[in-house]
Amino acid sequence: MQPRYLQVEKDGELVIITINRPEKLNAMNLEVMNEFIPVLENLENDSSKVVIITGAGQKAFSAGADIEYMSKIGSAEAERYALKGHEVLSKIERLDKPVIAAVNGYALGGGCELALACDIRFASPNAQLGQPEVTIGICPGWGGTQRLLRIIGPSRAKDLIFSGRRINADEAFAMGLVNRIFPAEGLLEESKSYAKNITKNSTYAIGISKMLVNRGMDSNLDTGLKLEICSWSLCFSNKDRQERMKAFLERK
Ligand code: COA
Repeated sequence: MQPRYLQVEKDGELVIITINRPEKLNAMNLEVMNEFIPVLENLENDSSKVVIITGAGQKAFSAGADIEYMSKIGSAEAERYALKGHEVLSKIERLDKPVIAAVNGYALGGGCELALACDIRFASPNAQLGQPEVTIGICPGWGGTQRLLRIIGPSRAKDLIFSGRRINADEAFAMGLVNRIFPAEGLLEESKSYAKNITKNSTYAIGISKMLVNRGMDSNLDTGLKLEICSWSLCFSNKDRQERMKAFLERK
């Protein structure tokens, strides 16, 4: 069945997922989250190499979890909604290919958390990121407290979470929350061009590197380094590695 809120488009070896609910600033209700699951499961097995996630329209990447829906639910349903958020974001994080968030406007609450689950964040100058949950009486619920902590450190994470303030693209860049800023009209094209460059590199080695960085964040140094040695050695059984090294040695 065709998703109602997710637009999925192929561009060669890239897949672009656009959250398409601009009239609600791409807020992610349960339907949006449910639509993500099969889309991401397809990506686990297809031949695409890089995924880009963005939002429809000029204003928002995503304004987060759906406040209208949340205003009507109790703890049990809230837990199901949180689990769904975690399921989607973990699937993104565990994909064995890079996922880029092209943050084209508001990325608030769950929208910011979605961007945090991606590997790389590019933003337009009008982007505004933040975790405003405490302003509506809840804490971040789709991994914000944990991923923000790991990406920008506890002090900055607490600043954003306690204040609920929105930061612009420059401040987000300065604190390492976004990797680069591109003009709004060029954000998607620049993201695609970056992604196309990545596709020239070894898919296998990139997948392993992503896993190592992700696992490393939650392991001690010794365990992370051991895992790196195993993974590095495994690369040598890969034909792609032989071809790439040979090509280097035979270069003109
Ligand atoms: N959930 C549900 N609907 C949302 C939403 C959300 N998170 N964010 C925005 N919308 C809806 C608005 O209700 C409005 O719908 P309506 O036209 O039917 O009334 C529409 O999207 C446009 O939003 P609006 O607030 O009118 O736009 P704005 O430009 O004045 O303000 C924001 C933009 C992003 C600053 C503001 O919408 C906002 O603060 N949203 C909530 C962000 C948030 O707290 N997210 C975390 C949730 S945990």
